[in-house]
Amino acid sequence: MLSILSLLGACALVSGAPFLQIPTNVQSPAANANAHAPNIDPYPALGKPRVTFKANGTFKLTVFSDLHFGENPWDNWGPQQDVNSLQLMNTVLGDEKPDYVVINGDLITGENTFRENSTTLVDEIVGPLNAARIPFSSTHGNHDNQANITHLEEIQRELRVAPLSYTRIAPKGVGGEEGPGNYWVPVYRNDKDHAPILILWFFDSRGGFSPNPDSVPVPDWVDSSVASWIESESAAMEAVWGPADEARGAVAFVHIPPYGGYSDSTWGHGVRNLIFHTPDPKAGVETWIRLEDGEQRARVVLDEGYGR
Ligand SMILES: *[C@@H]1O[C@H](CO)[C@@H](O)[C@H](O)[C@H]1NC(C)=O
Ligand SMILES: *[C@@H]1O[C@H](CO)[C@@H](O)[C@H](O)[C@H]1NC(C)=O
Ligand SMILES: *[C@@H]1O[C@H](CO)[C@@H](O)[C@H](O)[C@H]1NC(C)=O
Repeated sequence: MLSILSLLGACALVSGAPFLQIPTNVQSPAANANAHAPNIDPYPALGKPRVTFKANGTFKLTVFSDLHFGENPWDNWGPQQDVNSLQLMNTVLGDEKPDYVVINGDLITGENTFRENSTTLVDEIVGPLNAARIPFSSTHGNHDNQANITHLEEIQRELRVAPLSYTRIAPKGVGGEEGPGNYWVPVYRNDKDHAPILILWFFDSRGGFSPNPDSVPVPDWVDSSVASWIESESAAMEAVWGPADEARGAVAFVHIPPYGGYSDSTWGHGVRNLIFHTPDPKAGVETWIRLEDGEQRARVVLDEGYGR
């Protein structure tokens, strides 16, 4: 387990959105950004537009977690939950108008799905995001690895059916068994800037079962190979974009099942919003839970003063 992940707090509701700001203390191995340095932003080559702050200097993320599509397909209750989830997504996206969406794990209840069509549930999940043309990406959780589905299969399907998916597959050797979903997404202040001002990191916490007849459990933590990958990626960013110091912020997303926290009748269903009010990374990020009916809860600002 990465030590930074032990700081992550799982959040309440269907919208568990564990996150933290990563200390930007990786030493720069090279001098400042250099005009001939390779561009390490992978997205232009993938045909994806840059993710940017709004013209007025704000950036808002909305996090949907534990959507659990495909639960109990053999009764009426299960499919109705998916209808409700799509309705919630459409309502929230219409109201909140986020600049980026994170689907934070357990997209699918993999132990209930069928080999022949399990990934088609991904098509349903990304429907509202495709329709609203919002850039997004996913982490995957313990229910996304099961006999009839894996994280890799979900990611491959998502990339096929969602033009604005920024999810990527980690390089070979990074992420461990059934944990391919480790990647980062740069966010720029302005479309033409040399360097991003915010890095969104996404880690694969694996879990669930291997898709083999013996149903061997998969370790349910982020593989230790991810730690050195974070260091080498950060070093590459510093070499090309200059030292992070106070110039570049970071937020990390990982799925952690909020054990014991599901569906309390007094909680309802909701999502987590995060908003950067200014492009200055030192200003921190404000976050709160938005319930389906619009009620807001647990608003905090995560900046230097948080927790003091
Ligand atoms: C920035 O623009 C968005 C979208 O138009 C708006 O909702 C938000 O209130 C604006 N924020 C500020 C600080 O101007
Ligand atoms: C996997 O899918 C097959 C084919 O649809 C089905 O027969 C089987 O019950 C599923 N396995 C599990 C563990 O759900
Ligand atoms: C998947 O296939 C099974 C039967 O094989 C069917 O009962 C189920 O409704 C299908 N689900 C989807 C999402 O297509």
